[in-house]
Amino acid sequence: MNNPQDFWNQRFAESNHAYGEVPNAFVQAQVGRLPAGGCVLLPGDGQGRNSVWLARQGFDVTCVDWSEAGLASALELAARYAVQIEPVCADLTTWLWPETEFDAVVAVHLHLPPNARQQVHHAMLRALKPGGVLLLEAFDVEQIHYSSGGPNRLDMLYSAEMLSEDFVDAEIALLERAQVVLDEGLYHQGVAEVVRMVAVRSVT
Ligand SMILES: C[S@@+](CC[C@H](N)C(=O)[O-])C[C@H]1O[C@@H](n2cnc3c(N)ncnc32)[C@H](O)[C@@H]1O
Repeated sequence: MNNPQDFWNQRFAESNHAYGEVPNAFVQAQVGRLPAGGCVLLPGDGQGRNSVWLARQGFDVTCVDWSEAGLASALELAARYAVQIEPVCADLTTWLWPETEFDAVVAVHLHLPPNARQQVHHAMLRALKPGGVLLLEAFDVEQIHYSSGGPNRLDMLYSAEMLSEDFVDAEIALLERAQVVLDEGLYHQGVAEVVRMVAVRSVT
């Protein structure tokens, strides 16, 4: 399948649990860094496991994804927990990103090709208010040696060096490569190499 948007729609139409319903472990571990009740933007949150969990914690959640099937599952999950999320169906590379609007941006396993990655990462930072927090977890380039999930193209995988370049204008509170054991739905299972970052938009 050549069109990546069709790929995601097909994956999410197959199952309500491509990555499970449990939020990503790094998001759970770092949620204390987000201002209570703040506005959080989740680009590329697929079937909404992180969005819905954050809404259940009292955050005001907007999730943006180009997969209608993913967003439909996210809304079903939100309804099941009787919480509200704001879904936006858009391609993150052409979306008119809001600026200086969110207290936090949470991006989990959103992998973009090299020509779009930096542009979208800059937009994530600009979407934050000064002092706003970005949580990001993605598969590291070392993940090319594993079959536990993520893109099987080296140029779609990330590294700490790439992230420190993309977010050079932010204050980096944490940036690490980690080996983890994933147990996230059908498609993230087993030992994996990830890169994780907490960045803060400078106040000045
Ligand atoms: C591996 S899934 C991760 C889903 C979710 N963050 C999670 O952790 O369960 C990647 C998601 O990014 C979305 N995505 C990839 N490229 C995108 C783009 N250019 N615009 C909007 N969404 C995109 C896909 O539709 C998919 O939902």
